[in-house]
Amino acid sequence: MNGTMNSRRILLIIGGGIAAYKACELVRLLRKQGADVTCVLTEGGAHFVTAMTLAALSENPVHTTLWDLKNEVEMGHIQLSRQADLVVVCPATADLMARMAGGIANDLATTLLLATDKPVLAVPAMNVRMWHHPATVRNIATLRGDGVSVMEPDDGAMACGEFGPGRLPEPIAIVEEIARMLGLCASTSSARSGSGESTDHDPARPEPVEGAEPVEGAEPVEGCLAGKHVLITAGPTHEPIDPVRYIANRSSGKQGFAIAAAAARAGARVTLIAGPVNLDTPQGVTRIDVETARQMSAAVEAALPADVAIMVAAVADWRSAGEAAQKIKKDGSGQVPPLQLVENPDILASLCQSDRRPALVVGFAAETNDVLDHARAKLLRKGADWIVANDVATHAMGGEINGLHIVTAAGVESLPELPKAAAAAALIERIADAIA
Ligand code: CTP
Repeated sequence: MNGTMNSRRILLIIGGGIAAYKACELVRLLRKQGADVTCVLTEGGAHFVTAMTLAALSENPVHTTLWDLKNEVEMGHIQLSRQADLVVVCPATADLMARMAGGIANDLATTLLLATDKPVLAVPAMNVRMWHHPATVRNIATLRGDGVSVMEPDDGAMACGEFGPGRLPEPIAIVEEIARMLGLCASTSSARSGSGESTDHDPARPEPVEGAEPVEGAEPVEGCLAGKHVLITAGPTHEPIDPVRYIANRSSGKQGFAIAAAAARAGARVTLIAGPVNLDTPQGVTRIDVETARQMSAAVEAALPADVAIMVAAVADWRSAGEAAQKIKKDGSGQVPPLQLVENPDILASLCQSDRRPALVVGFAAETNDVLDHARAKLLRKGADWIVANDVATHAMGGEINGLHIVTAAGVESLPELPKAAAAAALIERIADAIA
C-alpha cells in the first residue's frame, strides 16, 4: 500500500460507545494512506464492533485483553504501547478519559496508555450532558495538561436523541489530525494539547508535536515562494440564464483555496480569484470574488503580472447566449423555452498565449475517465506547463480528499490520495522547486 502515512504505526484504542462503528471507517482510511494500524478493543468497544471486523480492516491481530499470556511472551503490553508512532483513542468515552486522567490501569487500553512514551490523541464522543459535565471538563483539562491532544467533538443530533457537542468528528477530520500529529500536514487543528490552558472547550491552534519529523512533499519550506506573486483561480463560475437561474457545476473551491493557503504559507503574495463559494479567505491571501467566466477572465488579466498561475477553477464552458432581463415564465403551452449556449473564453489558454504569460502556468483537469490521456491532451491544447489531473469519478467534487497527477512534458507524477490541504502543500512544494 502506498500513501503519505506509509509505514507509520498507529495504535488505535476503541472505547465503548455507539461511535465505535466509525472507528472501522477510520481504520479503512488510515490503511488507504498506507498506515500500519494495530487495534486494541476495550470490553465496552466489543459491544459495538467485533475484533473480527477490525482485524479484517487493519490486516493486523486485534488485542482485547491484558491477560493474553501468549502476547506477553511474544509482545508485552509495554512493547505494544511503544512500538507505535502515535496512540489514538477513538472513540474516547467519558469513562475511558476519566480513567486516563486518573492514571488508572485496569484493562489493556488504560495500561497501554499509562505505559506509552508516544504522543496520544483522544477523539471524544459522548452525550452532550456528559461532555459538559464538570467531571468531564476537569478530566479533559487534566489530560491536556498531561500533554494529550484532545479533539473537539462535532455539534449536532446524537444517537441518543439529544443535540449539541459530543458527536465523534468525521473520520476524515480525524485522519487529518493524525496526519498533522505525525508531522505530515499543517492543517488547522481542532485538538489541543499542552498545559496551562483554560478548561473551556473552544478549539485553538495546534501545537507542534515534539519528535514528529516532517516528510518530504508534505509541507513546503517556509519562505520558499518569498517574493513571488502567485495567481490562483478557484471554485465554479455561475452563468446566468435569467435573474433567478444560472448554469453551474459542483466545484466547491476547497482545493483551490487550500493551494492559496499553502502558497501564502510558503511566503508568496497570493491573488485568489474565486467563483461563488462558501469558504473563508485563507490568511494572507488577497481574494477577488467573481461570478461569471468573463468576470474571472477580466480579473485574471487585471491581476497580472504574476510569477506563477494556478488555474484551479472549474470554469463553465458555456453560457447562455442572451441573459433574459426578466424571469423566464412558463407560457402554459407546455413548450420548453430554447436555451441557446455560447462558448466562454478559455482563460487558461488565453493566459498561455498572452505576452504577460507567467513563468509557470499550471492548469487543472477534473476528469471522469481516461484521466491521464485527457490531461496530456489538455497540456498540449492549452499550452500550459503542467496540468494537474484528478479523477472526479473516484473523488466526487466537493469532497475532502484528492489524488492528484501532475502531468508535464517530462512525464507524470502521481501523488497519493491526500486530504486537500496536504495535496496543496505537496503541489506548492513542487512549484517552488520548479521556479527556484
Ligand atoms: N479553464 C479556463 N477557462 C475555461 C475552461 C477551463 O481557464 N473556459 C481552465 C480550468 O481552470 C482548468 C483547465 O482550463 O485549469 C481545464 O479545465 P477543464 O474544464 O477540465 O477543461 P476544458 O477545456 O473545459 O475541457 P473539457 O471540459 O472538454 O474537459
